Parts: sequence; structure tokens; C-alpha cells
Amino acid sequence: MRSDYCGALRSADIGREVTLCGWVDRRRDHGGVIFIDLRDRDGIAQVVFDPDTAEHFTQADRVRSEYVLKVHGRVRARGPEALNPNMATGEIEVYGTTLEILNSAATPPFQLDEHTDVGEDVRLKYRYLDLRRSEMQHNLRFRSRLTTAVRNYLDREGFVDIETPILTRATPEGARDYLVPSRTHEGKFFALPQSPQLFKQLLMVSGFDRYYQIAKCFRDEDLRADRQPEFTQIDIETAFLDETAIMSLSEEMVRQLFKQLKAIELGQFPQMSYHEAISRYGSDKPDLRIPLELVDIKDLMVNVDFKVFSNPANDPKGRVSALKLPGGNHKLARKQIDDYAKFVAIYGARGLAYLKVNDRADLDGGLQSPIVKFLPREVRAAILDRLQAESGDLIFFGADTAKVVTEALGALRCKLAEDLDLYSCEWAPLWVVDFPMFEEDDKGGLTALHHPFTAPSCSAQELQQAPLQALSRAYDMVLNGTELGGGSIRIHDQQMQQAVFTVLGIAEQEQREKFGFLLDALKYGAPPHGGLAFGLDRLVMLMTGTDSIRDVIAFPKTQSASDVMTDAPGTVDKRQLQALNIRLRAKEPL
Ligand code: AMO
Ligand code: AMP
Repeated sequence: MRSDYCGALRSADIGREVTLCGWVDRRRDHGGVIFIDLRDRDGIAQVVFDPDTAEHFTQADRVRSEYVLKVHGRVRARGPEALNPNMATGEIEVYGTTLEILNSAATPPFQLDEHTDVGEDVRLKYRYLDLRRSEMQHNLRFRSRLTTAVRNYLDREGFVDIETPILTRATPEGARDYLVPSRTHEGKFFALPQSPQLFKQLLMVSGFDRYYQIAKCFRDEDLRADRQPEFTQIDIETAFLDETAIMSLSEEMVRQLFKQLKAIELGQFPQMSYHEAISRYGSDKPDLRIPLELVDIKDLMVNVDFKVFSNPANDPKGRVSALKLPGGNHKLARKQIDDYAKFVAIYGARGLAYLKVNDRADLDGGLQSPIVKFLPREVRAAILDRLQAESGDLIFFGADTAKVVTEALGALRCKLAEDLDLYSCEWAPLWVVDFPMFEEDDKGGLTALHHPFTAPSCSAQELQQAPLQALSRAYDMVLNGTELGGGSIRIHDQQMQQAVFTVLGIAEQEQREKFGFLLDALKYGAPPHGGLAFGLDRLVMLMTGTDSIRDVIAFPKTQSASDVMTDAPGTVDKRQLQALNIRLRAKEPL
């Protein structure tokens, strides 16, 4: 139907006859001349109709926003006063000679260029309109180019693309499962995969050597800006490669993606241990663009006469840390400091003590703080020394369990950077390594920090003797404070796998029931293997500079895991439930 895309016309096309198809972005009537901004996937071209083409001029007068048109005309140069340097097609316009209305459009629920005035719910309800916006068109096309580049890279490296089932058994990745009732097996359920983890390991047992898949994963968990219940991984597994080789192969992939698609050189990614990340940055996914660091002062607080600090200082599970904001005295007013105290409360902090260093040389009158009176002079001096504080600095304190202090000050560090624009560079990738195998949950039980198929860097015996001391052979790739991907060397020995299950409190019968097929496969010549998975949505989010993965997914779910456009999840009719032998009942209080 068309000869050209609207957005592709340039001054080189002047004089050509063209046929364009697209949507009316805007229509303006300028003293008897009608201007139509016609939009297609490539952009917008201005089409002009004047009364000389009487019949078509009348048609042009009828069109409204989002009507679908076919226009024929001649490309001509714009007059000097009409040039628009902000528009790719701003040097030309199309003098329209014929206009055909292919379809009319009801008045849209929001003007596309005023989308920010409406709530995200409205945009998601009319997602097909929202996706017409150039930003969304750009994001999804970028995503497509990225997956093509990923496929090309992995194909060149000898990876085989293999699909794994969606109707399957639970794969534990730490979230709840989405379940699908079986009609043919009464009372039984499939689980949607939280990841293809076990299948990709089995493919290594089968000898495929290098597997990848752009795989849909499903996790019923609390949603945030970078989490969706249904999301996509670039999922990778290899046999006979150690962690150094796997990390270097996948690091190179990300480096090439940035180079090809954004002309950015990321350089070599540094590595940092989990322990260092938690202690210096209060996070296992530290944002290294931010030059602030947590400094531990637990040892200085053991004998102070201020229980808020001395109690956690004397508790092996406690942490007392400080965060210095250079020049912060002038940057933050009292009200803002109070707001940050409310902010850290989200992470369980019961307060946010602070100290203003007005005059570094005067340990009495030069320090302003609600807690300075509790701190002996030598402790004040030691804090200032350790933090290398200078006059004008503002110091925040956290004192509580290690978990609360780490999370609260880690989050405060990121919040300060965001609010005060403290970033020292644009891109800061790194690997976090040497994770513990397990962490204690609230009930004193152990859970796997990654998943239970991750190999420890110690023997099965050492693991069982001191599980909380055991480190894993896992690695996470972090970019600008977002966990982009993670993986590990896997357990390929049946006994080691059973030892890990046992430490996790999974009894032998349950091991057989849930993971019998894996334990069996490990018996039949499983090679050493390992891999990782990237969050594709997160990678595209970072590379397109958006702040929510919903902006890079065509049809995402809302924060409450629903689809407001199709109204899913929905009710089903009685007959369907009968076929599944399911009867609904009123929710019981838990
Ligand atoms: P993991 O659970 O760390 O590892 O997931 C890998 C990556 O997937 C992304 N991701 C998500 N993205 C959007 N929404 C979510 N709800 C979500 N959850 C995770 C993150 C994360 O880094 N099987 C292992 C990988 C392996 O060991 O090979 C796994 O799934 O970017
Ligand atoms: P209070 O003794 O509760 O009046 O607290 C004195 C100061 O210490 C206030 O500035 C509080 O915000 C701060 N504070 C209280 N609890 C903590 C804590 N757990 N960590 C850091 N600061 C705290």
C-alpha cells in the first residue's frame, strides 16, 4: 500500500511522489491550509492539504486524531520559517494530492503525547494505544535488536537454542509457583517454571555442551519496578567450563551488546566478594557509580553510655555503621534529614542518628548532633578519623541487627545519590562472587542464597559441619545497582546434591519425590557444568534508560500481578471447574 515510511523521508527525497500509510498524530487548520502529522513506526511526516485539491481537502478536514490514512503526494522542501530541527523529517513536508481514510478512530482515552497526565493503569488498559508512542516503539525495537545480537553472539560461540517445557514441576528459585491444575490427573498440578534450571542441567547430562534459551519464567512474588511475575531470561548452561571461563564468556557478551547497540565501551568488569559488597556498600548488588561507603564503627561503640549504639555493638549479630555525606551540612536541611529517618524506617531502622561536622578542629562546640553528648571525646575523635571527616560533612549512623543496618544504610546510600545526583560515572558493572551457600531464615532454618543446585567451594563433609560458613561457586553480574544476571557452577555429584538437600532440611523421601529425576540423572555420567541467566527485561531497561521493566515489555502486569486490558486473571465457568474437579470456597482467615 505504501511506498515509504513517514519517518524515513529526508531532503534527499524532495521531488519524489510518495504514498504513505499511518495514523493521524495531529491535525491543524492554518487559515485554510490543513496540516496533518502522519505517524508510522518510523516517525512522523507533515502532510499539507490546500483547497486546490478540493475533494481531498474536504476529507482532510474530516480526519481526527488516530484516524488511519493513506496519503499520496509529493515531497517538497519546507520554507525557512517552517524548518523543524527537532524532527528527523523537519526539513521536508509532503504536499498531499489524494487522501483515503482507511479507518476512523474513536477519541482516544488519552492524547499520546500527554500520556504522563494519566495513570499507568489507563496506559495499561489501552496498551495497544500506549504502544503507539515513539518511546515504546523505540524500546520494543531496541529489545528486538538486542535479542538478535544475543542470538548471534551465542550462535557464534557454539550455543544450541533448545526449548524447555512450560508445564512442568516446581523449580525452586525462591518464589511461589504459579500452578496449573491437570484435568487428566485429578488433584494434580503442573507448576510453571521459575526458570529452566533443572532442564538445562539435564541437557548438559545429555551432552549438548552449550545451551541457551530466551526463556519465559514465572514467579509469584511481590512485585517492584524491576520485577514481573512473568519475565524473560537469557538462559545459558555449559559443560566442562569453570567459573572463570563462564564469566568471561558472558561478560564479553554484555560488553559486545553495549558496544554494538550503544557504542559504549564497558571495559573489564571488576570482581568483589559478597562480604566486601555488604560491608562497604550495604548491598549484594552495589551501585559503584556512587562514591559513598558504609564504615563500620562497631568496635568504637562497645563501651559508650548510649544503649542504642552499645547494645548492637556488643551483640555478635549486631552492626554499627556510619555513612559520610561530604559537604552534606549545606546540602541537607533538618526537614530532609527527618525525611531520611522515615525512609530508613521502611527497612526496619528505629532511628537515624546524624552528626554535623561544623568545625573539624573543635570536638566540643564544632559537632552538632542529638547523640554527641553520649559520645566521649576520644570516641568522637576516632569516628572522625576513621571516616576522614572534614568540616562541612554530615555523618549518618545505623545501629541495629546487621541485617537492618545493612539494608537501611545501603538503601540510604542509593537514595542520597538519587536525590543529590552524586553519580561519579554512567556505567558501573561488576561481578559479585564468594556468596555464602546458605542464609538463616526468620525461623532459624537455612535457605539457599542462590538455588539448591549451586556447588559449594568446600567438601560435603565441611558443608554439613558448618553450613553457614560455606561459600558457593556462584557469581552475580551487577550493573548500576541492578542484579542483571546470576549463575554458578552446579553440583554434578549425587552425594553432594543430597548433602545440600539435607542441610536445607529436605528429608530423603521429599528429595526423591521432588528431585528424583535429577538425582537419577546425576548417577548416569553427569559432566561438571555451570551457567547463568540474565534478566533480559532488566538489561533492556538499563540500556534504554527507563526506570521500570514495564516500559520494555509489550504487555506487562500491574503491581498487583494483573492484566487490566484483558482482565486476567479472570473467573472461569462452572463446567471448566467441574472438568478439573475444583470447587471454589470462601477464603478462610489464615
Ligand atoms: P535468578 O533467580 O538469579 O537465577 O534469575 C536470573 C536473573 O533473572 C532476572 N529476574 C527477574 N527479572 C524480572 N522479574 C523477576 N521477577 C525476576 N526474577 C529474576 C534477574 C536475575 O539476575 N536459574 C538461575 C540462573 C542460573 O543459576 O543459571 C536463576 O533463575 O536479572
Ligand atoms: P533517641 O534516644 O531514641 O531519642 O535517639 C537519639 C538519636 O538516635 C535520634 O537521632 C534517633 O534518630 C537516633 N537513633 C535511634 N535509634 C537508632 C538506631 N537504631 N540507629 C541509628 N540511629 C538511631
